[in-house]
Amino acid sequence: MSWLVTGGAGYIGAHVVRAMTEGGERVVVYDDLSTGSADRVPEGVPLVVGSVLDGALLERTVRDHGVVGVVHIAAKKQVGESVERPLHYYRENVTGLQTLLEAMAATGVDRLVFSSSAAVYGMPDVDLVTEDTPCVPMSPYGETKLIGEWLIAAAARAHGLKAAALRYFNVAGAATPELSDSGVFNLVPMVFERLEAGRPPRVFGDDYATPDGTCVRDYIHVQDIASAHLAAARRLNEASEGTSLVLNIGRGEGSSVREMVDRILKVTGHDDVVPEVTARRPGDPARVVASADRIRAELGWTAGHGLDEMIESAWQGWRHRH
Ligand code: WQD
Repeated sequence: MSWLVTGGAGYIGAHVVRAMTEGGERVVVYDDLSTGSADRVPEGVPLVVGSVLDGALLERTVRDHGVVGVVHIAAKKQVGESVERPLHYYRENVTGLQTLLEAMAATGVDRLVFSSSAAVYGMPDVDLVTEDTPCVPMSPYGETKLIGEWLIAAAARAHGLKAAALRYFNVAGAATPELSDSGVFNLVPMVFERLEAGRPPRVFGDDYATPDGTCVRDYIHVQDIASAHLAAARRLNEASEGTSLVLNIGRGEGSSVREMVDRILKVTGHDDVVPEVTARRPGDPARVVASADRIRAELGWTAGHGLDEMIESAWQGWRHRH
């Protein structure tokens, strides 16, 4: 009785594996190691190296390890790259999911937790984004996540799959330095990189219609993301056939870029540094903050970690890697 975690050697996946094993679940990791790293997989957890496009290997893995459910995290996740390589993103994220769903159907595995993203909402024009806020993704990446949700909902209706799609907001932090994010694609590591180079961090635009003019986001600790997956998996163990949940994972609290950068400077001891305001980055919505009401109601889950913990732990991870 194991759960398969695809992408379990990646930043978020490794935290999910940790939360699930600590919660007493047996786990198998499936990862192509394109961006993941085998040393994130704890001892005693089997690692199968393979692609989510390899249906035969997925089926064999399910049979060999007695898999009862899948947490599907393996995916391409860079918004900018998805604009340049949309076919690659559709193949990895949509065809990959379809291949997985076929392998699950062939082997009778009926539980799926899926990594979705706040990117499905695009530029929401609301204070708090609920799961019923219209989805208008602004990038091929966001499209692949929304199509993934549709595919899963259709499979739930047609053949009894039980599923939870979790829409992550802005993930940061690490449980341990070893598990930290190795990419430099988001605000927190991008600020670290500038500081390390002896340059001021950049604020992409301060003329948005927000209280301090900079973009507002809902930052969430990766350990909270991980505990939400465990809660979702447990919920699916008890769920009836065809259950299909869509849940935001956020704290329900907005933080501006300026506020985040100031906190990062303080936590890392760079209080004397003055951030540089540059032009807006194309495609950035002014404000994206979750309503976390539904996940609280459905799973009894709430976030337990705050901004300073995210920044402090991310900084320790950065220093471990650099
Ligand atoms: C946050 C804010 C930037 C760097 C993206 C994806 C989303 C999800 C998470 C995958 C923005 C500003 C950043 C810097 C800055 N990804 N910024 N200076 O764009 O909210 O979300 O990552 O699932 O789908 O779109 O995250 O961390 O890139 O930016 O001012 O040096 O920080 O403009 O307002 P974003 P981010």
